[in-house]
Amino acid sequence: MEENEDGVELEVTGVSPQGMGTAKKGVELYDVRGAVPGDLVEAKPVGVRGGRKDAIVIRRISESVSRTEPRCEHFGVCGGCQWQDVVYADQLKLKRDMVVECFRAAGIGDVEITEILGAEDVFYYRNKMDFSFGWSRAGELSLGLYEGAIQDGETVSDNPKHHAPPVFNLQKCWLQSEASNLIVAAVRESLSDTGLGPYNPSGRTGTLRSLVVRDIKETGDVLVNLNVARKIHAAGVAEAATRACADVKGLVQSVNRKRSRNAVPRLQETVFGQDRIVEQILGLEVQLSATSFAQVNSRQAERLYRHVLHEARLIGSERILDLYCGAGTMSLLLAKQAASVTGVEVVEEAVQDARRNAERNGILNSKFVCKDVLDFFRGKVPEVDVVTVNPPRAGIYRAVLNAICRMEVERIVYVSCNAKTLARDLVGFKRKGYRVGHVQLVDLFPHTHHCEAVVSITRGRS
Ligand SMILES: C[S@@+](CC[C@H](N)C(=O)[O-])C[C@H]1O[C@@H](n2cnc3c(N)ncnc32)[C@H](O)[C@@H]1O
Repeated sequence: MEENEDGVELEVTGVSPQGMGTAKKGVELYDVRGAVPGDLVEAKPVGVRGGRKDAIVIRRISESVSRTEPRCEHFGVCGGCQWQDVVYADQLKLKRDMVVECFRAAGIGDVEITEILGAEDVFYYRNKMDFSFGWSRAGELSLGLYEGAIQDGETVSDNPKHHAPPVFNLQKCWLQSEASNLIVAAVRESLSDTGLGPYNPSGRTGTLRSLVVRDIKETGDVLVNLNVARKIHAAGVAEAATRACADVKGLVQSVNRKRSRNAVPRLQETVFGQDRIVEQILGLEVQLSATSFAQVNSRQAERLYRHVLHEARLIGSERILDLYCGAGTMSLLLAKQAASVTGVEVVEEAVQDARRNAERNGILNSKFVCKDVLDFFRGKVPEVDVVTVNPPRAGIYRAVLNAICRMEVERIVYVSCNAKTLARDLVGFKRKGYRVGHVQLVDLFPHTHHCEAVVSITRGRS
């Protein structure tokens, strides 16, 4: 079927970075909302973004998965949880298939990829959510999540207010907790007649950026971080959050006018209560500040870390280098079973958290260096026996990979959140004479296409 007014027949073969199905017809590339790899669909193109056509499914001609009724009232509008209508067992199968395909495409299809470790809790699993301030389609201030779909006939730049996708007012999200839903509603209400608008980094107009809620499942403790471009009088926001949820232990205001909302804040003030909360990970007390990195699914992170410890095969005498260590959770778990650990991390606050967490847990054989990993390798590098790496989605730079190989360690354990860059980097290690072990997959993000992987890399070709 050629594209006509009714739609176009598409065979979905991949997944876009936003979690939509991808397809190609002739020279046209499509992102298809509501479709997953293996589906054959009739889809209606509804707009264009970044040179790709956005399409919605009109009819599924054949399906590659079993589908279920999505629980969330925002499903189909929200940019998250694209796979909530796929039964969980099939989500896991899809994730594994995607990893297998990345490895095949990179020319390392012979690497063994295990079954994925699925989650027991597929709802309310997140310990952290980042809710955005933005404009709704109606042009009102909203606090919630970005819309994932564009509407019929629309291009993303159609609405001048939309320097970013529209944000819908979230009523109930199933990913974090009932508490975070209540806090979002209360904070939105408290800011509704202040005249403050969402921040637009292009024009440097507006004020409000995002509201980050961290909650600890075991204790129920909650920490709230209000991200703004210029400091506001936030006592009313703190009062609203605590009225909505008595477990809010602190509210921090972070001021950041940079383009990236994740940039280190220029200023941070505690508006109310404490600026950190504590959670337990495999018996470790981990204290987290408002902005430092931690795995968002604590229960599944424990399974991931257990596997890292297993693959590191420590007997107690090893010196370990943990690159991209975040707030040091993995480093400290490794340190408990090794002679020493050096963690390297670029975010100053995360490094401070890591040092505090080492002290709090009496782990004296760990040290943390605040540096870009590339710069770290430009200086004097300690002698170690095992290297662990857990980079962001971009994977590791070629120069970093080469520097790791020059260390000539027997074992490297690579933890990845992006199968494509993992496969690329494993090809790099293989070329340098390393042997790639099997890949263990762990699902930390039910209802999304994301998946974590742990793989051990040893010296000597297979
Ligand atoms: C996936 S997280 C690692 C998490 C950590 N292993 C844990 O279990 O909590 C990746 C970390 O790499 C850090 N990072 C990103 N780019 C970096 C770079 N060029 N040099 C050093 N750290 C970097 C990020 O700040 C983030 O904390």
